[in-house]
Amino acid sequence: MTTQPSPFDPLTIGPLTLRNRFIKSGANEAMSLQGRPTKALVQHHRTLAEGGIGMTTVAYMAVAPEGRTLANQIWMNPEYLPDLQALTRAVHNSGAAISAQITHGGSFVTGLKVKGRLISASSGFNPAGSLKGNFLQRAMNEGDMTCVIDQFVAAAQLARDSGFDAVELHMGHGYLLNQFLSPLNNKRKDAYGGSAENRVRFPARVLAAVKAAVGDTTAVLAKINVADGVSKGAKVEDAIVTARALEAAGADMLVLSGGRNVESTWFMFGSRMNREEVSKILKQQGERLAAFAMKAAASSEPDITFKEMYFLDYSRKIRAAVNLPLAYLGGVKSLANAEQAMSEGFNAIVLARALLHDPDLVNKLRSGEMTESGCDNCNGCVAYIYHPAGTRCVWKPPNDLALNQVFASAE
Ligand SMILES: Cc1cc2nc3c(=O)[nH]c(=O)nc-3n(C[C@H](O)[C@H](O)[C@H](O)COP(=O)(O)O)c2cc1C
Repeated sequence: MTTQPSPFDPLTIGPLTLRNRFIKSGANEAMSLQGRPTKALVQHHRTLAEGGIGMTTVAYMAVAPEGRTLANQIWMNPEYLPDLQALTRAVHNSGAAISAQITHGGSFVTGLKVKGRLISASSGFNPAGSLKGNFLQRAMNEGDMTCVIDQFVAAAQLARDSGFDAVELHMGHGYLLNQFLSPLNNKRKDAYGGSAENRVRFPARVLAAVKAAVGDTTAVLAKINVADGVSKGAKVEDAIVTARALEAAGADMLVLSGGRNVESTWFMFGSRMNREEVSKILKQQGERLAAFAMKAAASSEPDITFKEMYFLDYSRKIRAAVNLPLAYLGGVKSLANAEQAMSEGFNAIVLARALLHDPDLVNKLRSGEMTESGCDNCNGCVAYIYHPAGTRCVWKPPNDLALNQVFASAE
């Protein structure tokens, strides 16, 4: 008889062993300037590591400058190796492992103007890009695919050389690799479009190439959608096909998320986006058009009630279909939630908002000082991805220290 692991037990993922099974989810810290990590980012991840998690994830690092969604977003420039090393060293010194979430925005570029047409699975008008004048997108050809694969490989190699223990390929939420997976974007008629098997072909090629390049020393993860959450989007049946293809391509673990940045943020977060807070911060930053778009989109959102473990029904179906390690994500708030994920056969638990609210949640769950996070899912933290001081829980004191450090590091 196999006994159910405790969330505090170590976990082996490919070449990596974590001290426990709690992983900080990639959640855009916005603690970078013109593509470069700041001291605030180092402090943020050091604090999380000191709080007891097994691994932290540095969010949303673009594999190329034109693959950024926002102008200050980190991109994997070899010149930033010393900055990235400072980040990994701080986390290792606090006993945790560190993963690099690597991504390409494709046509989802909302914060800067990119020269020429943005790349995506298919061509056409690009509403999200229009905010900055990126009106049109074009369908990637074989040459583009080779180029993007090379960019992901180079980014993974830089992550490895900088001391990251894992790379997480972002295949969810509407970024380039998700633009292939989702029928909302992928209208191709060739071997990369149509069936779910065809739509995962390019993302699986990317993963296989990254695995071949760094997989002997670095765990290779992918974050996928269990569903897009809207009627014409990918369904859990598509996600099962995706998971099987990524398992065959060599993924060491999948992180199961859901929803899309434009069409279904309520599905991603299990609760309504805090559009008032987002719009307030965007206005403060002079982003009036984006602030207006954000408010306008609020009216189309269903009024849903937050439920802990809100992706469980979907994620169970994927658990039943594949053998590789899976990380449960979505509304984990308590020790009981984490233990339930273990009992359902998931290998790790990934948390974003609960750890933004309580960076030392894991230590407190272990000592018994807390049994659940005080996060109330208000989603105010999401607004701060647009603030120069970076992402923070709105119930915590303002991040003045981080703000000072951001400006100091820009000098
Ligand atoms: C402030 C904030 C920023 C986020 N940015 C990212 C991101 O950069 N990449 C990503 O994959 N997910 C991002 N997410 C989504 C989270 O990783 C996670 O999927 C989601 O919050 C659900 O997990 P939770 O219920 O534990 O918060 C973000 C979430 C928050 C709250």
